[in-house]
Amino acid sequence: MTVSTRVRPSSPPVPARRATPQRYLMCPPTYFAVTYAINPWMDPSRPVDVERAVRQWDALRRVHLDLGHTVEVIDPEPGLPDMVFAANGGIVIGDTAVGVKFRYPERRGEQEAYLDWFAAAGITRRHRPTFDNEGEGDVLLAGDVLLAGTGFRTDRRAHAELATLLGREVVTLELVDPRFYHVDTALAVLDGTTVAYLPAAFSPASRAELARRFPDAIIASEADAEVFGLNAVSDGLHVVLAAEAVGLAAQLRDRGFVPVPVATDELRRAGGSAKCATLVLHP
Ligand code: ARG
Repeated sequence: MTVSTRVRPSSPPVPARRATPQRYLMCPPTYFAVTYAINPWMDPSRPVDVERAVRQWDALRRVHLDLGHTVEVIDPEPGLPDMVFAANGGIVIGDTAVGVKFRYPERRGEQEAYLDWFAAAGITRRHRPTFDNEGEGDVLLAGDVLLAGTGFRTDRRAHAELATLLGREVVTLELVDPRFYHVDTALAVLDGTTVAYLPAAFSPASRAELARRFPDAIIASEADAEVFGLNAVSDGLHVVLAAEAVGLAAQLRDRGFVPVPVATDELRRAGGSAKCATLVLHP
């Protein structure tokens, strides 16, 4: 019997990946609907299937739990159809939570609901932002730095405010494609030093900044980004992502990650997927 080894002389060794247990906050899509259009994916003339959304959300929650993570749940509120996108509820690091200020009035009712949850959860330092700031949808923690999107939702001035409130370096990234209106639709943080992203979603200057900071990044295809593959939740090893993003899943596997596909097509009708539905409560 011959044992063949695949030799890839040009590729660097794949680092060993390690999962870190996470704590997440999610909101069931009980009142999910598409009744307004604030991003190009939303079409209020096509009714959504709420039961299907609930099934997909339950399965996503189950996946997080089966991977050994903790999932906290906030009560949904009627009349707030986008509340399922918990990533837009705030930014939480340790005992500090920065609440959100939505660009569009349709979502502003969610702001206090999430701040109240943070208070009840014992998060002692809570801030209301001065400028438009859509929480973790636009601000991703990568190691010690915050990668912050602007261009469609979060005000650039919110970035400086976050740097002060959270005492971290904030890297401003300008989004240029309306389909990828939140940074978490165009970039996934896989671990403290590894990201995946769609370069075309960013301005030339931001693209250069990303290339400089993350020379080993996974470069996603437009096809995978369009099915929200980059809207992924990683624990450093497992990457929970939209099942349709098969190319990205293969790239992740090549780089030592374990892709965990989930169905999120009903949530996508509102312009969101796995990450949008999962707020990370960072330690
Ligand atoms: N319909 C929601 C909006 O446009 C979707 C939010 C998706 N959330 C995210 N983190 N990308 O605001």
